[in-house]
Amino acid sequence: MAGLVDPVLVALWLMLPAYIGNMIPVFVGGGAPIDFGKNWRDGRRILGDGKTWRGIILGPILAALFTFILQWLSLNTSWGETFPSWGPSPWWFAIAYALALGALVGDATKSFFKRRTGRKRGDRWIPFDQLDFVVGGLVFGLLAGVLLQVSGATPSNTFLDIFTWPRVLVILLLTPALHLLVNFIGYKIGAKDVPW
Ligand code: CTP
Ligand code: MG
Repeated sequence: MAGLVDPVLVALWLMLPAYIGNMIPVFVGGGAPIDFGKNWRDGRRILGDGKTWRGIILGPILAALFTFILQWLSLNTSWGETFPSWGPSPWWFAIAYALALGALVGDATKSFFKRRTGRKRGDRWIPFDQLDFVVGGLVFGLLAGVLLQVSGATPSNTFLDIFTWPRVLVILLLTPALHLLVNFIGYKIGAKDVPW
């Protein structure tokens, strides 16, 4: 059992930029919505008031800055024996930023389809609310890894070096449960209006 804990924690650790990026807008979001309050052809909001510019701009920047601390821990303390870093400096920053930006682009893309199904802002839509940011984060992270390699910045795809298939599988399987738990806590401490 103990032998399984470490690989699982490593997978979740690597995904922290996406998790944090997805969480920050809850605290710093608000202001102008990305769709500027406009409706789609069906008369419903394009994205809704839950997707704001402040959230999608500040979320990835703050998440990437936070990853700076994690990256430092991985490189300079015994944490590094267990937890890998996001790649060579300074390119790890691009991977971390892409993971967080992708999380929020995935989240906004989900909201587009959520509105089309007639669900209002904050309504629950399992499992899409739980997976949008994981899928978005992984896709953008992969794109960043490809761009870094193709441009010659990194000799290999540093995203694929750390996001191995078993880790991706762990992330996809465990994130929905984690998301529900974190949101329940967020609701209890008053940061969120609904417990999902
Ligand atoms: N948020 C934001 N900007 C974003 C994403 C999120 O300001 N780009 C903030 C909003 O205050 C939002 C909260 O974070 O209400 C929680 O995000 P989420 O659960 O993704 O949004 P919902 O309000 O549930 O909206 P939707 O139904 O469209 O998912
Ligand atoms: Mg929601």
